Amino acid sequence: MVGLEVSVRSSPRLVWYILREMKNVRVSLKNRSYDVKIGSDVTRSLGFWMKGLVSDHTPRRAFVFSDDKLTAQLNSVIASLKKHKWEVHSIPVKSGENLKSIKSIYPLYEELLNRRADRKSFILAIGGGTIGDAIGFLAATYMRGTPWVCVPTTLLSQVDSALGGKTGINHKTAKNIIGSIYQPRLVVCDLQHLETLDDREIVSGFGEMIKYGIVFDPNYYHYLSANFKKLLARESRTTSHAIERSLFWKSKVVTQDEFDTLGIRETLNFGHTFGHALETVTDYKRFRHGEAVIWGMRFALSLSLVKERLLKSEYMLLDSFLSGLPVPRLPQNLNVNELIAAMASDKKSVNRKVKFVLLEKLGKTVSEKRITHQNLVDAYTIMTQITKP
Ligand SMILES: NC(=O)c1ccc[n+]([C@@H]2O[C@H](COP(=O)([O-])OP(=O)(O)OC[C@H]3O[C@@H](n4cnc5c(N)ncnc54)[C@H](O)[C@@H]3O)[C@@H](O)[C@H]2O)c1
Ligand SMILES: [Zn+2]
Repeated sequence: MVGLEVSVRSSPRLVWYILREMKNVRVSLKNRSYDVKIGSDVTRSLGFWMKGLVSDHTPRRAFVFSDDKLTAQLNSVIASLKKHKWEVHSIPVKSGENLKSIKSIYPLYEELLNRRADRKSFILAIGGGTIGDAIGFLAATYMRGTPWVCVPTTLLSQVDSALGGKTGINHKTAKNIIGSIYQPRLVVCDLQHLETLDDREIVSGFGEMIKYGIVFDPNYYHYLSANFKKLLARESRTTSHAIERSLFWKSKVVTQDEFDTLGIRETLNFGHTFGHALETVTDYKRFRHGEAVIWGMRFALSLSLVKERLLKSEYMLLDSFLSGLPVPRLPQNLNVNELIAAMASDKKSVNRKVKFVLLEKLGKTVSEKRITHQNLVDAYTIMTQITKP
């Protein structure tokens, strides 16, 4: 097995465990290719894998930006880096959408400058999707691009945002509008890092996972729907298999359409037009991202029915599963016109025309541009009649 840190000093049990349990997803993008390592305690080998990314003569310097709440995760990263003789600079940051702003990241450039980080230094991002997006953007722009490594610590970031190189920050009027596609050199998804997550975060990650099943892979959809309880219980085999399948699909899409120009990567937007609108009108307070995406997928399914793309029987099957997931209800005072206006300002819409990824059947999507205001109202009505807000 190539790339594993297995030395005579490692205990036989550990060697057996690593060999047996670790999964690897390769993202093949020519000279921007990289691995995503998945497994329990894989962080143990992080410093070793990073060593493989630099020549013997390059000074090993690591600038570690981590969520200030994640002490155990940070310590595991630092231990591995130090073991492999990396000079470590640890810079704690506050996670959340606030980090994704010019104002918040500006001082981080100063941190790098003051510590004389150069273009051969490595930047590490430890935390959820907000850390990955913001610190990835910092890496993309510091000295016109510095290598970076992502250590995602939420399920959502492990199955989605850490892979694919979409880095960025928000403008006060639009989310993720300032950014760059800049691939990391390595991604490490450690199941132990998920142990401190609350159940809502697992459900939020599950929202993105089941999306891959619905749009690409019926078998994976059935696997996830049958194993939701095991995932919620953090059962490690199920979790690592589910993460690997999600990343397999994400990687397939990213390698075919890295810069999101061919309409392939846009399939991943299933559930997001409504999901983002819902997050916007509720000020990012009521729903976690994946929870809003679950609502968004229910809306997209309902719209697929309105546009006569999807059979009623298939709609009922999928919606009955999604509507049973434990996500916050829609607020009582939610205004459908406000939601429609927010959908029209989504960055994926063109000339304020809402564009949707709809479902034709499990595993097959279609992009739909001809959508009227009435279609949206009808879809909302169907969805909310099934579950009263
Ligand atoms: N780049 C992409 O392709 C992509 C894809 C999807 C989402 N995103 C972005 O990801 C962000 C959402 O990511 P997120 O849901 O991970 O949010 P987040 O980064 O805000 O993390 C959610 C919360 O979980 C906490 N947390 C993180 N890891 C933890 C752990 N192991 N234990 C306990 N608490 C932990 C954080 O401190 C935070 O309070 C959004 O900004 C979204 O735009 C990007
Ligand atoms: Zn998403």
